[in-house]
Amino acid sequence: MNDAEFDAIVNKIQEEVFAEARNALGVKGFDRWRNPRFCGKMTDSDGFARVKGSCGDTMEMYIKVEGERLREVSYTTDGCGSSSVAGSFTAELATGRSIEEVFDLSGADVLKEIGSFPEAEEHCAYLAVKTLQEALNAYMVAQTKKGKLKELNHINIDHCS
Ligand code: FES
Repeated sequence: MNDAEFDAIVNKIQEEVFAEARNALGVKGFDRWRNPRFCGKMTDSDGFARVKGSCGDTMEMYIKVEGERLREVSYTTDGCGSSSVAGSFTAELATGRSIEEVFDLSGADVLKEIGSFPEAEEHCAYLAVKTLQEALNAYMVAQTKKGKLKELNHINIDHCS
C-alpha cells in the first residue's frame, strides 16, 4: 500500500466517524465536539468539584464567581466525546447566570440546548450539571467559612477592647 492509498483509507474512516458523530449530536453538538469550548482546568477558581458518574467517567467543573453571578466556568472530563459536549454546553449555559439560576439548571436544560444527543448518553448532561452544582456548593461552603472566620475575628476584637 502506498502513501496515497493509506491516506485515502484514513480519510474515509475519519469521514465515517464524523458522519456518525454529526448524526448523533446534530450540527451544534458536532461543532462543539470538534471545537470544545470552556474546556480546561482553572488554577484560580472560586469553586471546584470532581464527580465520578455511574459509567465510571469523571467530570470536573471550575467556577469563578463575581457578586451573585458565575463569571467564568470551565470543565474537564476523562469521558467520551458526549461528556465533553455536555460539559461544554453546561459551562456555556452557566456562564453569566446567578447562583440561584445555576442551582435550578438540570441535565434536561443542557440536552435541550444541544438539541440532539444520543439517548444512551444523556446521563453525561446530568453528570455535568451535578458537577457544576457541586462546585457551586464548594464555593458556598468556602464563603460561609470565610464569614464565620470574620465573625470569630470580630469576637476576638471585641474581647480585646
Ligand atoms: Fe460517562 Fe458520558 S459521562 S458516558
